[in-house]
Amino acid sequence: MANQKQIKFGAALHGVGGNVSGWRHPEVEADASVNFELYKKWLQIAEEGKLDFIFIADGLYINEKSIPHFLNRFEPIALLSALASQSRNIGLVGTLSTTYSEPFNVARQFGTIDKISGGRAGWNIVTSPLEGTSSNFNNKEHPEHDLRYEIAAEYLEVTRGLWDSWEDDAFVRDKETGVFFDPAKLHALNHEGRFFSVKGPLNIARSPQGQPVIFQAGSSEVGKNFASKEADAIFTGHETIEEAVRFYNDIKERAASFGRSPDDVLVFPGIGPIVGETEEEAERKYREVAELVTIEKALDHLGRFFEHHDFSRYPLDEPFPDIGDLGKNSFQSGTDKIKADAKANNWTLREVALRAATRRSEFIGTPTQVADLIQQWFEGGAADGFILFEAVPRGLEDFVRLVVPILRERGLFRTEYESGTLRGNLGLPIPENRYTQARAEAAQPTAN
Ligand SMILES: Cc1cc2nc3c(=O)[nH]c(=O)nc-3n(C[C@H](O)[C@H](O)[C@H](O)COP(=O)(O)O)c2cc1C
Repeated sequence: MANQKQIKFGAALHGVGGNVSGWRHPEVEADASVNFELYKKWLQIAEEGKLDFIFIADGLYINEKSIPHFLNRFEPIALLSALASQSRNIGLVGTLSTTYSEPFNVARQFGTIDKISGGRAGWNIVTSPLEGTSSNFNNKEHPEHDLRYEIAAEYLEVTRGLWDSWEDDAFVRDKETGVFFDPAKLHALNHEGRFFSVKGPLNIARSPQGQPVIFQAGSSEVGKNFASKEADAIFTGHETIEEAVRFYNDIKERAASFGRSPDDVLVFPGIGPIVGETEEEAERKYREVAELVTIEKALDHLGRFFEHHDFSRYPLDEPFPDIGDLGKNSFQSGTDKIKADAKANNWTLREVALRAATRRSEFIGTPTQVADLIQQWFEGGAADGFILFEAVPRGLEDFVRLVVPILRERGLFRTEYESGTLRGNLGLPIPENRYTQARAEAAQPTAN
């Protein structure tokens, strides 16, 4: 049992939630997205449940039609720093865009969280799908979808290079001799590339986990290639186990084709479990949230995925309108799927909008039913772990209280943290400092 492979869990802390009208539910604190006391409480629930990490999603552009949580929420880096001081073991993962930031700042910010937390930081790399984001950054040109990934790849190369600026034993700090550091163990990056010119070195050294864990959520061809080549963990979203297994195998095969061990890239489907004492109770919880959504709000929500397109101009009960390539340059894989599903099922605009805004979780039912399904996905090769979103109020609490003990009893989930670092708990290797490694390799006697 001790060596049985176990499921990993992350919990997305998402303020008033991802539902367009969820904030109106009587059990939701309507200011949750900016209520630090609540974030601390969720952190505590997740850590007491021994979950692997919490996750703070993010975006950089809103308008009046954005979902309520997006309108007024905490910035991930600042929030994670505060949460680092309130926790001991749980990983701290946040989203930051490679299209609208600079590698030096970001390497330093995540390096700092990693140090403060003793090696528990993780960075979810996004490339910023929304074109409007550019209007908040000096109207710089919004790069097209595939180019954003080329930028992200070089950006990450720079960041990783900066993180290795100091070898782990570089700081001597000898008060007698006055030697603060060993200059042979300090390295400038001197990066000159297509998109970035960064000399370095970085002014913060590595944490006990070497470098923050890299998360990514690419679903398009270029996105999947980037993620399976570079990321330690991949977020994804699937409605059926068949789809999830296909994605999982695809990622592991791509990782192997890039010379990586398939175990070095973990796949985390996002799920929104709804747990009730009985099936009926779970259904009721789903309906209570779904019924709060009006068609107007659902249309606004749908529009966001298509660059805030105004869907209210089309008849509601006719087939989903032909909107051409709209959406291709933003949430490409998601918008392609919405269009394809609408066509295949001959759904009306009303159906498409309501389905998108009131998505019914696969993972709904009694604690045993939800645990069974999680086990089935895990053992069926669909997931290494799951990222939990709250589909209903107190979803995280219910999951930790009711489902986690069942998984634990089955030997599928830990009883104690294995490590103080996020890499340690996820079973990921600690990347050795490249310069230390090169020195060790140079010192090896040659074969002949
Ligand atoms: C679980 C999960 C979390 C995500 N979090 C964010 C986020 O915080 N910010 C963001 O802009 N996009 C987020 N995304 C969207 C992805 O970054 C990406 O745009 C999307 O998966 C489309 O893939 P593509 O870029 O390969 O087309 C997330 C996706 C998933 C599945």
